[in-house]
Amino acid sequence: MRLRGTFLPFALPDIDDTEVAEVTSVIRSGWLTSGSKTDRFEAEFAAFVGASHAVAVNSCTAAMHLALEANGLRAGDEVIVPTYTFAATAEVVRYFGAKPVLVDVDPTSLCIDPAKVETAVTPHARAIIPVHLGGRCAEMDDLRAIAERHNLCVIEDAAHAFPAKYKERTVGTLSDFTCFSFYATKTLTTGEGGMICTENGPLADRCRMMSLHGISRDAWSRYTAEGTWHYDVIAPGFKYNLTDIAAALGLAQLHKANRMHERRVQIAGRYTAAFRELPELEPPPEAPADGQHAWHLYMLRLNLDRLSINRARFIEELKGLNIGTSVHFIPLHVHPYYRKTYGYEPEDLPVAYREYQREISLPVYSKMTDDDVRDVIDAVTDVVGRFRR
Ligand SMILES: Cc1ncc(COP(=O)(O)O)c(C=O)c1O
Repeated sequence: MRLRGTFLPFALPDIDDTEVAEVTSVIRSGWLTSGSKTDRFEAEFAAFVGASHAVAVNSCTAAMHLALEANGLRAGDEVIVPTYTFAATAEVVRYFGAKPVLVDVDPTSLCIDPAKVETAVTPHARAIIPVHLGGRCAEMDDLRAIAERHNLCVIEDAAHAFPAKYKERTVGTLSDFTCFSFYATKTLTTGEGGMICTENGPLADRCRMMSLHGISRDAWSRYTAEGTWHYDVIAPGFKYNLTDIAAALGLAQLHKANRMHERRVQIAGRYTAAFRELPELEPPPEAPADGQHAWHLYMLRLNLDRLSINRARFIEELKGLNIGTSVHFIPLHVHPYYRKTYGYEPEDLPVAYREYQREISLPVYSKMTDDDVRDVIDAVTDVVGRFRR
């Protein structure tokens, strides 16, 4: 097969002159931290997803921390979290001295399994944090029903899920809190950044206040002509505010979010059309007809019993063909911290452990050219052809 001339990175942001101009204008303006651009980014993001309130912060991790804080999480409480996720989803629970209760996932979607959530609820449970893995929604109706029955708060980890829909409703409007990530590889990026969406005005205010030292007014109003020097510290808050530099980048990205999404849908469609012909591969499930997959990740699974190589070797072979890939995720209960602290064994949550071992994430980003997409398909097909059993 023909070898690509250059290495195709696993992820690249879709940045053009518009972003450069927006960021440059903020830098020239003299106002660098949270201000009018951040206000506008919040308003436009809220309008885009249809949420009543949006609070911009400097990461999704910060967003989830603030959402739990606003809900009054305490030491000894429990929060139900899928094991098939990134470190951030559970570490924010540990910030409070509370316990992340790790739960196994559905074998098809790899999102938290509602039946297993139900059995994990104890009198200490306070919240559920579903993760819309790769950009495909968790079973929100089932999860919300469980949450209502047990009086739990639902905080969505929507780091992968912009723009996604569940039963024709936009992610950002489905539960008590939705936390988005604008990290460098995400479907909308500000370099680092995040957003909290909620319908609850007072709790949005609490998140906003705690994102800036627990001060009752933000720096913007303090240092403008209308502001005063006086401020009150209401609680010991955090330093989680988003800068105007980042918000300018976010606004430019938001304005092309639909185009970027359409391109990812197209790429995922091409991959699936090619890979569904190969019994050695299992393409990721599409969203149901009334949903929308954000396609942050294209999570291919290998049918290892039909291949003579393991996942690690498959990745090496793709690298040799100049294709960058990644793995999402090493389940939390397999990591040393969670094993040591809570005594988990890999087989305790068997679906996540099994599926993780055969997962490869392929590049799926709007900057990819048709040639890039073809190169990925050719490379995967070539490796399968050389190593089929
Ligand atoms: C599922 C999930 N949740 C949360 C995060 C944390 O996002 P951030 O880096 O914006 O804090 C990530 C980051 O990759 C993620 O993949």
